[in-house]
Amino acid sequence: MRHLIESTDMSAQEVTDLIDLAIEIDANPQGYADRCKGKIMASLFYEPSTRTRLSFESAMLSLGGQVVGFASESSSSATKGESLADTIRVVSNYSDIAVIRHPKEGSALMASQFSLIPVINAGDGGHEHPTQTLTDLLTIYSVKGKLSELTIGFCGDLKFGRTVHSLIKALSRYADNRYVLVSPFELRPPDYIYTILRENKRKTVSDERLDDHMRDLDILYMTRVQRERFFNEEDYVRLKDSYILDTAKMRLAKPDMAVLHPLPRVNEIAPEVDKDPRAKYFEQVRYGKLIRMALIIKLLSAPVGRPIDAYDTQYR
Ligand code: NCD
Repeated sequence: MRHLIESTDMSAQEVTDLIDLAIEIDANPQGYADRCKGKIMASLFYEPSTRTRLSFESAMLSLGGQVVGFASESSSSATKGESLADTIRVVSNYSDIAVIRHPKEGSALMASQFSLIPVINAGDGGHEHPTQTLTDLLTIYSVKGKLSELTIGFCGDLKFGRTVHSLIKALSRYADNRYVLVSPFELRPPDYIYTILRENKRKTVSDERLDDHMRDLDILYMTRVQRERFFNEEDYVRLKDSYILDTAKMRLAKPDMAVLHPLPRVNEIAPEVDKDPRAKYFEQVRYGKLIRMALIIKLLSAPVGRPIDAYDTQYR
């Protein structure tokens, strides 16, 4: 049985196959309209979401499948004290695949160890968000025609931004990419991300200034400061507007640089940038549904196995 917990759980070849399938689905949606007929997806969201949840649900419906689930912790039995381990064992009886978003790092991995059905991590705290990464990779491939030999700037909250961690990990497998990591000192990526870049011998620059690097970038990946992961509001208020991408900054960039953002945006991209043809973040949303359709097909086609016998009080 296959799960998707971290962005590198799929090999680079599998990612290429998913991208090819998403492009094929885009060209011929009718050909896939019954592909998941009779299958049910459980959508278990313990944290707020607009795009991820709705794109997964819309993806499953467009494949002819059906969806059950909840959109907030408060409407699940978690409020009665049920553990995620118990919930996933129960939900395995009602559905064929589960998508989980949860505020705790490691929650999706733990759920997968108790699950009878494939589990997709739709965001586990500040750790990873692998399906946003698949979305980002499809977007980069669609606008640049390749996933290698690119200079990619990541800007904003690189400490708590799970989409950044997953995307850097996945991109580090492709040759000759350069990384420009722009954030306030306190919001630099966790050490393990630097370790991955170092181990893969990837050229990396860390800086607090964005302007100096604008002219070098092929991709600029903007992120919001992750308010919900801060320990105190004062730090958030001090750091939240560290970077605001506006038309003046865009003038410094290459004519074919692409701006990506996982969304939601707060202040970090001025609305005036939206009409710049280099702004790709709303196009990126469309790719999110397509790649999730491809992913659901892939995971539902994998042979079904048995969960490891892992029930232990440490997980409760
Ligand atoms: C991201 C997330 O939830 O991590 N949103 C998303 O899924 N597209 C980014 C964010 O919330 O800032």
